[in-house]
Amino acid sequence: MTPTAAPAAQDFDTAQESHTSRDVHAAQRVGDPGAVPPVVTSSQLIFFSSASENTTRFVSKLGREVARIPLFAKDAPLLATRPFVLVVPTYGGTGGEGSVPKQVIRFLNIPQNRQLLRGVIGAGNTNFGDNYCLAGDIIAAKCGVPHLYRFELMGTPEDVARVNNGLDTFWTRLSQTQK
Ligand SMILES: Cc1cc2nc3c(=O)[nH]c(=O)nc-3n(C[C@H](O)[C@H](O)[C@H](O)COP(=O)(O)O)c2cc1C
Repeated sequence: MTPTAAPAAQDFDTAQESHTSRDVHAAQRVGDPGAVPPVVTSSQLIFFSSASENTTRFVSKLGREVARIPLFAKDAPLLATRPFVLVVPTYGGTGGEGSVPKQVIRFLNIPQNRQLLRGVIGAGNTNFGDNYCLAGDIIAAKCGVPHLYRFELMGTPEDVARVNNGLDTFWTRLSQTQK
């Protein structure tokens, strides 16, 4: 894992093909009068996991403070306040369409979240061949951050150790280069 400069302040949604206009509106609710107040987090590891919860199982083994991106559009949005790494599973359709979960698009369409994103860890399943962990590749490219690691399903003990060591190194180097 290597540190990187802060990502470009590009709207994630403008370059992502699988969004809907509802996603944009949900993102704009943060800070608007009458908006659902956000859940604020200073966690440096933010993840999405669907109802199957493989990614939840993986991050719970890391022993780190984590914050979860909400599953439902009606839920309060999550607002990051510190630089963070995102753990994201891929949910692709034919040809990789829609690989980034819509909940993650909504989260990244909040400018503050996008600006604080420093890296991505992809979750997936190698049965999907070339589309393995594609969501991590897409987010890394769109947001200008490194795709730090890929793991399958709920990860192995080796994945847990590598990610924990890698995150320690990543944050140490980043704090040194951004002084
Ligand atoms: C409908 C569907 C599509 C998927 N598409 C991909 C894919 O394109 N690439 C990939 O690596 N994994 C794919 N996966 C596997 C998931 O990313 C994997 O099961 C992951 O662990 C799910 O995490 P979660 O249980 O935390 O939501 C797909 C799974 C499902 C159910």
